[in-house]
Parts: sequence; structure tokens; C-alpha cells
Amino acid sequence: MNNPNVSAPQLNGGQQLALKYFTVAMALFVAQIVFGIIAGLQFLYPELLYNTLDFNVNRMVHINAMIVWMLYGFIGSVYWLLEDESGTEVVGLKIGNLAFWVLTVAVTIVVLVYLFIQYGPGTMETIWFINEGREYIEAPRWADIGIVVCVLIFFYNVAATFMKGRWSGISGVLVLDLVALAGLYVFGMVYTTNISVDQYWWWWVIHMWVEATWEVLVGCIMAWGLMQTLGVSRRIVTTWLYIEVAMMFGSGILGLGHHYFWIGTPEYWLSIGGFFSALEPIPLVAMVVHSVYDAGTHGFKSNNHPALAWLIAHAFGNFFGAGVWGFMHTLPQINLFTHGTQWTASHGHLAFFGAYATIIIAVIYIALQKSRGGVWMSEAMPGNGWKWKWSLALLNIGVVGMTVALLIAGYEQSHIERAIEGSTWAGYFAAQMHKWFIQAMQWRMIFGWVTLAGVLLLMWDLLTVGKHETRVIKSLDHRPLPA
Ligand code: HEM
Ligand code: HEM
Ligand SMILES: [Fe+2]
Repeated sequence: MNNPNVSAPQLNGGQQLALKYFTVAMALFVAQIVFGIIAGLQFLYPELLYNTLDFNVNRMVHINAMIVWMLYGFIGSVYWLLEDESGTEVVGLKIGNLAFWVLTVAVTIVVLVYLFIQYGPGTMETIWFINEGREYIEAPRWADIGIVVCVLIFFYNVAATFMKGRWSGISGVLVLDLVALAGLYVFGMVYTTNISVDQYWWWWVIHMWVEATWEVLVGCIMAWGLMQTLGVSRRIVTTWLYIEVAMMFGSGILGLGHHYFWIGTPEYWLSIGGFFSALEPIPLVAMVVHSVYDAGTHGFKSNNHPALAWLIAHAFGNFFGAGVWGFMHTLPQINLFTHGTQWTASHGHLAFFGAYATIIIAVIYIALQKSRGGVWMSEAMPGNGWKWKWSLALLNIGVVGMTVALLIAGYEQSHIERAIEGSTWAGYFAAQMHKWFIQAMQWRMIFGWVTLAGVLLLMWDLLTVGKHETRVIKSLDHRPLPA
């Protein structure tokens, strides 16, 4: 530490482990974007790296890296708040640390196999060692089992620590949610030769994660984050959390039906899926109201501006990406035309970024504030202030720009391929080669580069933020003047 006011950080065991998870998460975030850029370029230049690094591989690494970095971000966030929230040391920290290394080695091997060994015939062995073939969770089965074991260890750390220490509304919801989140993963390992049945179970993981269990998890993190950054009272955040969780599960679980419209499941899913998924935006509105209200009543005053800004970005990103962009194509009458077009990709990008990338970045800023010695990270940050603001702006403008470009491509596909050409094979190519589609893909790349710039600047900021700050914050005071 290069100044006398700032003392060496006093991180507890859970927090030290959390920083390891965050480091890997951010490395995978960069990897995600690099492979996204290559995959995006291949839309415009189909010859690019053809037979060397094919589109299917780049796409798979792009979205698997995303899922894994987000899981790392969530696990890190929970370890970060665990001791504070429970009032006791993490139970079984040693094995928790071991699980981190096992998981990280497994992820590295899986990525190398993705990159170098994705050709040849598909057999039972390939499911075990090469690729399980389910989008987002393609990891081969040996890795699946390893992941389950590591997650169980994480769960043991969390549940045992709260059992030894104290429970709160937040930790109660959190632990129950983690049971569901981990249990659902098992449905991604069901093997069947019937593609409809396969898809049926696969959605249990994907949909129930992002529209139920992950949403509840970020609800818990948000509740805690608002207490941390703004000093909102526990009573208020817990009440909101209960309301949000009830609405989230009430709509999200049967909302699953919006993926069962056209995969060979019975027709009643059209009504169930359409109705319940249309209700899904409601809790997301509640989350915006909640966070903006809290921030407003505290005058947006916080000693950690980057974290607060990313929390607000989360509230709006979640509402627009999941709520508005999801609602747009969730009724079967509309989904008939939009299903599987770039419209879907438009929603996928805004939702994953807006709902999940944002809040993990917020927690990392909260963590860095403490690990840099509890420094002031608000107005008049010496030399550093521009970096977090520019990365925030570039990332959000980049992703929103991509989202709009993809939406235009999706409209064009729905119109030409589906409405005019009646979903024929020729119609698919007519839409794919149309100049509006190509222009949209060019715009996606322009905003893709903006996103990449934002990510790189974010990494630079995370490595340096608070390092030259001499003012420290008074603990537990969320609106202090610098000491
Ligand atoms: C943060 C929460 C959410 C995330 C991260 C998310 C992400 C995604 C992604 C990535 C896909 C594409 C899946 C694939 O590869 O086929 C998808 C599909 C879909 N999402 Fe979401 N989503 C979220 C919430 C919602 C909500 C709240 C709704 C409805 C109100 C919704 C409606 C849909 C629909 C209808 C599809 C199917 C699109 C198609 O037919 O091609 N999503 N979502
Ligand atoms: C440089 C920025 C990025 C570029 C160029 C890019 C490019 C791509 C491409 C080309 C695909 C395949 C789409 C297809 O199969 O038609 C894709 C899929 C996807 N990307 Fe990105 N991406 C970027 C950033 C991101 C970010 C920041 C996120 C979220 C945090 C994200 C989440 C996703 C998801 C969820 C899918 C699957 C969508 C679906 O199945 O519909 N990407 N991306
Ligand atoms: Fe869904």
C-alpha cells in the first residue's frame, strides 16, 4: 500500500476465495467476447478460419464461456458475502478452495477439447469425453459429474456456514434457491435418442436457470448490494425480496411452456406458456421500482459509484433484456414467426448482459473496494474516475447497439423467410442473403468492437481502481464524507 491512510485489506477466508472466482470469471469474460467477435465476423466472411476454427466451435466457446463465467461470478459473490451475512467463518473452507482448483482445471481441459477435438463421428464415448451436444452446457459428461461435485462442495460451505452462524431472510432464500439451481443441472445430463424428449429436459436447465433460479439469486445479491452500497435497511430489502421471489416463481416456472410451442409437445403448452411467460416481466418491473426507489430515497449517495451504477444498469438491463425483449416474442402467435431468428439472439444478448453480467461486475467493484483497503470510490476519484465511466458507457452502448442490429435482422428474417416465403428452405436463404440482413450483421460488428473496447477498459479499471486513493471510508456509513 503506497499511502499511510490505507491499511492492508482484512479479507476473510470466504472473500479471499471469492477473489479467485472473480479473477477466473473476468478472464472467461474476455474469452467470451473474443470468440463472439470471431463468430460474428464469420457471418460476414464465411471463409474466415473455415476448417481451422469453425463457427460451431466459436459459438459454443462464446456461450459456454459466458455460462461458466457467470456461474463463477455467482459463486464468488456468495463466498464474498457469506461470512458477513452469517456472522461466522466459512465452514469447510479448505475443501472449498480445493473445489475451486478442481473446477478450474476441468474448465480449462473442456475448453481445450472444444477448441482442438471437435470432429469425427459421434458415439457414446464422445458424450463422455468430447461434447454432450446440448447448447450452453455442451461440456462432456466427465466434466458434468465434476461440476456437480464441486457445486455440492460449494453448497455444503454455504449451508453449513449459515447453519453454524445466523440465518437471515436473504440467506434463507439463497440456500433454497441454490438447491434448485444445482438440482436442475442434472436434467441436462439425461440421455435420450428422441430429440423432442431431449429438448424437453434441456429447457428445464436453461429456462429454469435464467428465468427462475438465477433471477432469484440475483434478487438476493441485489438485496445485499443495496444494503452495501446505499445502506438501505434490511427490513425493506427483505420484504421486497419475498415479493419478487413469489412473483418470479409464480410466472417463471410455467413460463417454461414458451419453449414447448414447436418441439413436439402437446398443444396445451401454447396457452400455458403464452399466459404465464407473459406475466414474467411483472417481477422485473418490481425490481426496477425497488432499486430505483431505494437509490432515490438515499439521494444516489454512495461511497462506491461504480458498483451503484452497475446495480442500476442491472435493474434496467434485466427489465428491458428479459422483460421487454422477452415479452416481444413470447406469445405463440408472434413466436411462430420469430422463433429461432436473430430476434432470439437479440433478446439473448440483452438479457444475459443486462440481467447477469451487470450485477456480477457490481459485486466485483464492491469486493475491490474492500480488497484495496476500504478506499473511497465515489466523486473525484484521482486519475481513475474516467475508466469506470467509459467502460460502463462503452459496454452498455455496445451491447444495446448489437441488440438493435440483431433485432432488425430478426424482423427481416421473420418477414421474408416466414411471412412471405412461408418458412421454406429457399426462404431461409433468401432472408439470410438479403442486403438488410447483411447490413444488420455489419452494424452488429461495429457495436461488437465497441463492446470489446468496453471489456478491455473494464479489465484495466478492475486492475487499478482505488489503488492510488488515499481517502478511506468509515465502515457501515454509506453516505460518509471521506475521512
Ligand atoms: C434474464 C433472463 C433471461 C435470459 C438470460 C434469457 C435468455 C434467452 C436466450 C439466450 C434464449 C435463446 C435460447 C436458445 O438458444 O434457443 C431465449 C429464448 C427465449 N426467451 Fe428468454 N431470457 C430471459 C428471460 C425471458 C423472459 C422473462 C421471457 C418472456 C417474457 C423470455 C422469452 C423467451 C422466449 C419466448 C424465447 C424463445 C425464442 C425462440 O422461440 O426462438 N425470456 N432467452
Ligand atoms: C463483441 C461482442 C459480441 C459478439 C460479436 C457476439 C456474437 C455472437 C454470435 C455471432 C452469436 C451466434 C448467433 C447465432 O448463432 O446466430 C452469439 C450468440 C450468443 N451470444 Fe454473443 N456476441 C458478443 C457479446 C455477447 C455478450 C456480451 C453476451 C452476454 C453477456 C453474449 C451472449 C450471447 C448469447 C446468449 C448467445 C446465444 C444466443 C441464441 O442462441 O439466440 N454475447 N454471439
Ligand atoms: Fe424461457
